[in-house]
This record gives sequence, structure tokens and C-alpha cells, in this order.
Amino acid sequence: MKIESIHAEFGARISGADLSQPLSDRDFEQIDLAANRYSFLLFEDQQMNDGAHLDFTRRFGQLEEEHVSYYSQGKITYIGLVGNVDVEGNKTTPRRNKSARGNEMWHSDSSFREIPAMYSILSAYEVPDEAGETEFASARAAYRRLDQRTRELIEDRVGIHDYIYSRTKMGEDAVNQSQRTYMHPVRQRLVRQNPVTGERNVFVGSHVKQIEGMPDAEAKALIRRLIDEVTRPESVYRHRWRVGDLVIWDNRCILHRGCGYDEQKYRRRMHQTRVRGSMPSIAEPLD
Ligand code: OGA
Ligand code: MN
Repeated sequence: MKIESIHAEFGARISGADLSQPLSDRDFEQIDLAANRYSFLLFEDQQMNDGAHLDFTRRFGQLEEEHVSYYSQGKITYIGLVGNVDVEGNKTTPRRNKSARGNEMWHSDSSFREIPAMYSILSAYEVPDEAGETEFASARAAYRRLDQRTRELIEDRVGIHDYIYSRTKMGEDAVNQSQRTYMHPVRQRLVRQNPVTGERNVFVGSHVKQIEGMPDAEAKALIRRLIDEVTRPESVYRHRWRVGDLVIWDNRCILHRGCGYDEQKYRRRMHQTRVRGSMPSIAEPLD
């Protein structure tokens, strides 16, 4: 396996690994370490299917159930559909597309869950001929750039993350009644630390609506400033998808967003799994 850096602040491309086959423990250990170190990994020219995708995901830990079908229909599945093609291979509805457009705001997957996700793993089967990129940025690099005063200001703060809040920015009908009933705001630390490397990062994104104990206007301005710091143009890696790409990112410290594409004209079919985090972020130690 070869590991090459793809951006000055984070991210690597790994070649020489076939993820459709079971990996040796040695290869998996290298990938696991690289995920902790680089926060984003790209594997190209993979021949994936859902079974291999699930097996690979389980190497990192427990599967996290997919939230769209879980909270809207009570159905547990582990493969999330990203793009505009459903399980039967048909184009999805405009309402579903509107909700999916919420992914075009900078976010961390599942930060609206009490235990936020660790990794997301996304595999591309059909991609548009133009646009449809996904952008990624490192909240660790952003933390390193913060001045001491800001670091002290955010150190023990808690952000309130709320899926209904972020999704309804796309329109009131971007969520359904069942999601409104079952998806509640959760508390997450504003500063997190990787248990393997010890590196710290800010933890923000589109789902954050408040900071506990901070006046609303001040909190909104601080959230905006932190997201802007993470996503400075020169800090962003923009991924142009090819069929067979599989990427992993670390939701503990990476923000990402979709860039949009012509949903009428093109098909975009990607499958996503997520690795469950180990505990609520507010229970994680900071040293
Ligand atoms: C995701 C996501 C954005 C995109 O898969 O979690 O936010 O480009 N994707 O589809
Ligand atoms: Mn996402």
C-alpha cells in the first residue's frame, strides 16, 4: 500500500488496496492509523458492493443505522443513499432532493445524535458528468490557527445540535412529522480531542443552533466565525468524483458539504455507511 498526502492540511490517497476483498490485519492497521492521522482517505478504482462496504465498515467499529429511514419510517438500514437514485434504481422525489440539499451546508455527519458518528464511508457508483463535487476541510487545522483568547472562550463550551433546525433552513417540508417527533436537540462539546494523536479541533457545522449559556446573537456570530475559519478557501479540498472512488472521513474533525449538480439531467448514486462513535462528545476527555 502507498499513502500520499493530497492537501497541505489533511487528507491522503491510498493505493494498492482492494477493499472488495477482506483486508489483512496489517493492512487494516495501516489504514486505521492513516484515518486517525490524515482525517480523510481516498481509495480509487474500487469494485465495491454493499456487502463488501459493510464488511469494511465493521473493521472500524459498530455500524451506525441510517437516520433518514430510521426516523421517518422506523426502519433500520445501514446503507445510506446519497445522490438522487433510490434502492430500486429510480430517480428520487423532489422532496427527498430538497432534504438532501441540506448536505450543501458545511456539516459533520450525525452531529445531531447524542453519540456523534466517527467515520463516514462513501462509495461512488454513478456520478454526474459535471459538478456534484464534495468539499472537505479540517477543523484541526482551524483549531491550530485560533488565537489564545478564542481557545479559552470555547474550551469547555457546549453547542446545541439540532437536525430539525438545520434541515428546515431548506424549507419547512424538508423534514416530516415523524422526524419532528423523534429527533431532539443534543449537546456536543465545542472542542474535541483525538484519543490517538492528541490533536484538538473545533466541532461545529450546520446543525449547531446555540451555544449553551451564551446570548443568541453572540453564539450565532461565534459559530459562523468558527465555520468560516475551518472552511477558508485555501483550507478546502474539493473532491471531483469518479466511479469507483471510495472515501472515508473523520466526522470528529472534518466538515464537508455537497456542491450541488443538475438533479434533473444527471444520476448520482453513492452509498454511505457510518461507524458509530464510542461515547457522547460531552463525556470525552480533554487534557
Ligand atoms: C454525505 C454528504 C455530500 C455530497 O455523504 O454525508 O454530505 O456531496 N454528501 O453528496
Ligand atoms: Mn454528510
